[in-house]
Amino acid sequence: MSDYVLGVNQKELERLEFQHGVWKDVTNDFISRCGVSRGMKCLDVGAGPGFVSLDLLNIVGNDGEVTALEPSKLYSEYFQNLCKEKGITNTKFVSSNIEEADLPENYFDFVFVRWVIGFVPDPELFLSKIYSALKPGGTIAIQDYNYEGLTRYPQTEIFKDVPDAVRDYYRKGGGNPYIALKIPELFRKLGITLTDYKPNIKAGGKDSLVFEWVHRFLVGHFSSMANLGVISAREADEMFQDWLEHRYQTDAVIFSPIVVDVAGKK
Ligand SMILES: C[S@@+](CC[C@H](N)C(=O)[O-])C[C@H]1O[C@@H](n2cnc3c(N)ncnc32)[C@H](O)[C@@H]1O
Repeated sequence: MSDYVLGVNQKELERLEFQHGVWKDVTNDFISRCGVSRGMKCLDVGAGPGFVSLDLLNIVGNDGEVTALEPSKLYSEYFQNLCKEKGITNTKFVSSNIEEADLPENYFDFVFVRWVIGFVPDPELFLSKIYSALKPGGTIAIQDYNYEGLTRYPQTEIFKDVPDAVRDYYRKGGGNPYIALKIPELFRKLGITLTDYKPNIKAGGKDSLVFEWVHRFLVGHFSSMANLGVISAREADEMFQDWLEHRYQTDAVIFSPIVVDVAGKK
């Protein structure tokens, strides 16, 4: 199994927390369309530090439960400590990749997967594990990329190469930056009925949350892209300088890549 390409560290944890703040309106709207309600049993796959798990706990209440499945020790322990501090007892923790996890069959009412399946080399195996853990009639909800649309004003020749570099970064770890395009086919093969398919884009100027979100990703990951040989050290440096030069320009505008809500029923 390939290593998770974005890596696991305190800085990345903080970036994920900021990212959750930027996208939580989109995520909450999706979860609400999926009909998640009190008393349900939920599984958050690749829960990271548990930001969505916590939101799910608030929805399902004390009669429901949330299982946070997360392979990284740092993220999982962060969420376990948070639950301890808050006195939350209806959370379960699974410290594993989903591909190797031992999960109950036909158990969950709702399975949520945000920004995880795009990183894995075998999305069909990934989904088949979720399928067996899902109750008949249960819902799986995925948010992930159709990685098109990342654009910036001013549009420099250097920035035009950045989306390709990010896509190659995903592929380097065995992932697929266009995973949202493939999910309907994978659902059909597994016998999951597609119930929701909605694209989301954010755009804004230099003071917007979405600009800062792109900023934190790029400044945190250009050097990792170079370390993995996705771009050369010189390209990484040029992209970094080009980004900093335009980041706070008065009329700068950014468009996010497309994040797709994909839901299906077993
Ligand atoms: C970009 S983070 C997203 C975290 C969280 N879902 C969120 O939206 O805040 C991706 C997470 O997926 C986890 N992950 C990577 N490969 C996985 C796999 N095969 N099974 C389960 N989790 C995985 C990583 O450890 C990381 O915490």
